[in-house]
Parts: sequence; C-alpha cells; structure tokens
Amino acid sequence: MNKPSKTEKSESFQPGEFWKDNNGVHINAHGGGMLFFEGTYYWFGEHKLEGTIGNTAQVGVHVYSSKDLYQWNDEGIALSVSHDPHSDITKGSVIERPKVIYNHKTKKFVMWFHLELKDKGYDAARAGVAVGDNPTGPFTFLKSFRPNAGHWPVNVLASQKLPISETVKSQYCGGKGCLPDHPDIVNLLGRDFKGGQMSRDMNLFVDDDGKAYHIYSSEENSTLHISQLSDDYLTCSGIYGRFFADRYMEGAALFKAHGKYYLIASDCTGWEPNAARSAVADSIFGPWRELGNPAIGPHSEVTFFSQSTFVFPVVGKKDAFIFMGDRWRGENAIDGRYIWLPVEWEGERPRIQWAAEWDLGVFTSGRNGTSA
Ligand code: GAL
Repeated sequence: MNKPSKTEKSESFQPGEFWKDNNGVHINAHGGGMLFFEGTYYWFGEHKLEGTIGNTAQVGVHVYSSKDLYQWNDEGIALSVSHDPHSDITKGSVIERPKVIYNHKTKKFVMWFHLELKDKGYDAARAGVAVGDNPTGPFTFLKSFRPNAGHWPVNVLASQKLPISETVKSQYCGGKGCLPDHPDIVNLLGRDFKGGQMSRDMNLFVDDDGKAYHIYSSEENSTLHISQLSDDYLTCSGIYGRFFADRYMEGAALFKAHGKYYLIASDCTGWEPNAARSAVADSIFGPWRELGNPAIGPHSEVTFFSQSTFVFPVVGKKDAFIFMGDRWRGENAIDGRYIWLPVEWEGERPRIQWAAEWDLGVFTSGRNGTSA
C-alpha cells in the first residue's frame, strides 16, 4: 500500500474513507476500543499488515491519541507480540478486539483481548490480559485463559448442571451451522464448566459504580456471556450471566444510556458483514430484550458493510454516543476501514443511519450527515 500524502486537518468523520493519522498514514487500529483519560481519547486496536497474514498478530496492539476525535496521533504499539515462541502472544498468534480500561483503585491501565494461540486456528478461544502504567503503554502481558472455570452463571438452568452426554463433542467448528438448532440441548456451558468458558469476540464495559464487565461470545459463539471482573480488573470474579442463547451475537458493544444498558452486536459471519442487532436491559444481568437491527436505510441489512466494535460516549455532550464499526478486508487486512456513525434514538431504540460525512455538531444541532 502506498503511503497516502498528508492532507489538511479534518474536522469531520468520513466513514469508510482512509483515515490519516498525524503522519498521513491510514490509522491501523482495527476491532478497536476507546478509553477517555484526563482529557484525551485513546483508540486501541489490532495492528494489521498487508495480505491475509495481517489477520494474525505480527506486531501487536496499536494506540492513537486525540483531543477532538478527528485528529489522531500515532502513539505506537501499546502491547507488542512476543518473540518467545513459548509465549501465548508469540508473533503469529491472533490478538483481536483489544480493549483498555482504567482502574481508579490500582491506578493501572488494564487491557483485555481475544487471544488465539499460534497455528491453532480459533480453537483456543481465550481471553488475554495485559497491564500498564500509562495509557499508551507499554503494556505487559499477564496471562490468557478461558473465563469462569468452575463457576456457574447467575442464570444457570438445573439441566445444565447434569452430567454431560457422551455425544457432546469437545469441539465444534467454531462458527454457525455446526451445532444443533438449540445449543442449550448440547450443554456447552456444562462441557466447559471445569476448563473455563470459550471466549472469542469480546468487549469491556465499566459501570457508574466502577464495576467492570467482560462481554464475550461463548459456547462455540452461540451464546453471549456478561462477566463481572475482579476489583483490580485483572481477572474474572466468577459472577456472570449467559444471554441470547442460540443468537450467535458477535462484536458486542455495551453502553449505558438513559439509565439503561444497551447492546449493539452483529451476527456471526466471519469477515463478511451482516445485519446488526440491538437490545436493552434495566440490569446488566438481564433480562435482555432485543430491539432489532439498529441500522436503517440503504445497506442497513449489512450494517453499511461493517461489523460493530465499540460504542462510546462523547465526553461533554449529553446522550451523545458514537458507534464504531469495522469494514473488514479479510484478504488485505491493513486496508480495513472504520465506520463511525452517531447513535440516534427512536423512542427507546438506538438507530444508526449512514452519513458519508458528519461531525460532532449532530449531537447539538441534529443530523447534518449526507444520505447514502
Ligand atoms: C468475525 C469476528 C472477528 C474475527 C473474524 C475472523 O466474526 O467478529 O473479530 O474473529 O470473525 O473470521
């Protein structure tokens, strides 16, 4: 890929276009997450390379900083892959959807990500944890594991505690279509009780009371788990719930608006886009109620060719949230694009409409984007 030339400062978002950093280089932070700390936004994401190899971790987790959300400074690699072949995060492993939160008690920055071990496809289904003293790193890798080993969810069914049938495979294909229609019958939760629950697409969310949650696609991706972290955010607390069984929620992004918990997620179709889903709950441990596809208008059935990654509040603006999605380029990973759109509301339902160009003024003066 040619290095794009530097351009003038942008004061708007242009979803799907090249997004140049302070060096004029397309931002390299895919499957990203946003942290706001002491007046600065930090955007963390997967550093991709050209070609399909770029879908594996060759470099690590990239971080950028911004004061205004339009201009981004390259802050380098927050978490580097290891050159020790025995490390869980050795070069060539898969590090996806990194998220960073700040722990006010320990004063540490804590990063969680989806980790797949090198040359093992998507079989490992682990969460990785790293910690740092500064938002831009360097982060130190601590461990990777399958969450909640030996703990039943708060909404466990009596049938899930029964002995596991011998017909339950130790592993399915890791996508849609490998399991029977109702995964609960297979009891993947019970299968993985001892060794820990599978954890693939993931996100983090910090509630107003400082409790943090790990949201991950589990049970062969068929069911979403929402899991409370320990007070230091470095591991799971063992308190979790399972939701949306058989819905294959991926790319789940959790946020709080108007005193309620909202979720925007995708279906499970690999790098190919699909129709997003949304849901609402009064309590983080449910019950959750689905609200349908939040995207509206042309190409809403494929979420404007993107997949949800994160939803974050714009600091200083009331009820202003930005949807972050990825337009993946599986065959040339570095060329992935970012689809940022304002979250609008139709009654209690979050809405996302396409805008080729928009700015933060939409949150005070109403929509000023152009229709696709
Ligand atoms: C998607 C997932 C991505 C990545 C991809 C690999 O479903 O959301 O994060 O894991 O599959 O095919």
